Amino acid sequence: MKVAVLGAAGGIGQALALLLKLQLPAGSELSLYDIAPVTPGVAKDVSHIPTAVKAQGFAGEDPSPALQGADIVLISAGVARKPGMDRSDLFNINAGIVRNLIEKVAQVCPKACVGIITNPVNTTVAIAAEVLKKAGVYDKRKLFGVTTLDTLRSETFVAELKGLNVDKVNVPVIGGHSGVTILPLLSQVHYAQWNDEEIAPLTKRIQNAGTEVVEAKAGGGSATLSMAQAAARFCTSLVKALNGETVVECTYVEGDGRYARFFAQPVRLGKEGVEALLPLGPLSQFEQEALEAMLPTLRADIELGEKFVNP
Ligand SMILES: NC(=O)c1ccc[n+]([C@@H]2O[C@H](COP(=O)([O-])OP(=O)(O)OC[C@H]3O[C@@H](n4cnc5c(N)ncnc54)[C@H](O)[C@@H]3O)[C@@H](O)[C@H]2O)c1
Repeated sequence: MKVAVLGAAGGIGQALALLLKLQLPAGSELSLYDIAPVTPGVAKDVSHIPTAVKAQGFAGEDPSPALQGADIVLISAGVARKPGMDRSDLFNINAGIVRNLIEKVAQVCPKACVGIITNPVNTTVAIAAEVLKKAGVYDKRKLFGVTTLDTLRSETFVAELKGLNVDKVNVPVIGGHSGVTILPLLSQVHYAQWNDEEIAPLTKRIQNAGTEVVEAKAGGGSATLSMAQAAARFCTSLVKALNGETVVECTYVEGDGRYARFFAQPVRLGKEGVEALLPLGPLSQFEQEALEAMLPTLRADIELGEKFVNP
């Protein structure tokens, strides 16, 4: 399996390179690309770690050499949030970066699975889909917005609050990846009893958890280490699935369009990417109302991406 990371010299990219060097199965290849000249050095650095994963680094304007033969492409290239910004403030810079990188993916490795980390994910995934469509290579089973960090945060916060073993906590997170569009289905967590005063503040904490990190880093960026682990988890799940195992993850994909063109939900992954969209399961009244309330925002975010590519 060959995994390319675009944006590999950044805060997320470097940590992700380390985690993938440690977590990918033996025999995998890691291809690191960034415009920053340090990138071959990042690859050299991780290549000294004794695991059976080969790492190569590429810098410069053209990602093509890094994309040759890639089975999975993870994109974290772009700028991150500073205090006072929300994810949509990143749109003007990151939209163009994602468009340009996806154009290269469409040329060099059109059959690869692509995981978009670059924010605003609600919109950058729509941009990627439209670029791939224009190039005639769009396969909706193979394009993912990486929302796994919302899952990780939900699992951590629920386990802390309820005194549960975090390894056993599973929280489906649906919708999108910003503010009110992030909806953890807390009512579905096994072994957790909730009272009404807990659900709303915990939901809000999960929705704003990225801002907690942005503020704590005080101008030094947004979540990188937890995000890298989230992307590594998503990537290793995808590798297992492409190798024939059945794996379930929540991820932002083009689904049946019932709620919005792109929607994060539990998805069964298989050899060709998305194998099946799994049902959301029973929603509490709070969750049902939150789902309906998020849809105008989510749909507007998606439309922004579509219009960026097709003005
Ligand atoms: N999906 C999520 O849950 C999630 C969580 C945290 C951050 N993010 C997003 O991930 C992105 C990266 O965050 P970060 O903290 O790593 O930022 P960073 O600034 O540390 O790193 C970004 C990297 O992208 C590189 N880059 C810029 N333009 C490029 C291009 N055209 N081609 C290749 N590389 C390019 C930069 O050189 C830099 O190394 C941001 O958009 C951030 O908002 C997403």
